[in-house]
Amino acid sequence: ILKLFAALILGYLLGSLNTAVIVGKIYGKDIRSHGSKSAGLTNTLRVLGKTAAIFVLVGDILKGVIACLIGLLLPVYFYSGVAMDSVSLLVAGAGAVIGHNWPIYFKFKGGKGALTAVTVLFMADWVMGLLCIGFFVIIIALTRYVSLGTICAIMLIVAISFIPVFEHTLYFNIFACVMALTIIFKHMKNIQRLLSGTENKLTF
Ligand code: G3P
Repeated sequence: ILKLFAALILGYLLGSLNTAVIVGKIYGKDIRSHGSKSAGLTNTLRVLGKTAAIFVLVGDILKGVIACLIGLLLPVYFYSGVAMDSVSLLVAGAGAVIGHNWPIYFKFKGGKGALTAVTVLFMADWVMGLLCIGFFVIIIALTRYVSLGTICAIMLIVAISFIPVFEHTLYFNIFACVMALTIIFKHMKNIQRLLSGTENKLTF
């Protein structure tokens, strides 16, 4: 338990390095005062453009990967059947998502955690990661709503995680549910805008 707590804290401290806030500062803008006010990839693309978005993309993926590796390196391995997802990897990854959303270094005002969450998903089970990205891309191609793509993709992962053929552990199911709840909670304003037809569409 103590080691899982360490995984959560280390993941949180790493995840708190919110790349969108940092890149925004370099560009001289607080991303949290512009566009959707979310400190994430989509809003960076919207407000600061493609180059800044690439930095955020790479940064957020990197921190998700490093958090998971820290989780893996902590000597807490729960080997459970066919699915080898380590609990500490998931816990450190969840910590990174929480840090991204509520960063300790930036007054607890961050992003929505989707990119960090999908990175952790890839690290835990790359098939799930690919399914998530695939579904996300399809929804965006059809609707141009990034938020709808994010919400639908994480819901799909929750549903799939319970299909016995994928042999996921209970820990993976819990991780998927916690990620879905966090993402939906963070997307409440997007959901309101989607329902009222005023959500931003992805444009280049
Ligand atoms: O992952 C975030 C995305 O789903 C929505 O971002 O900035 O449009 O609220 P945004």
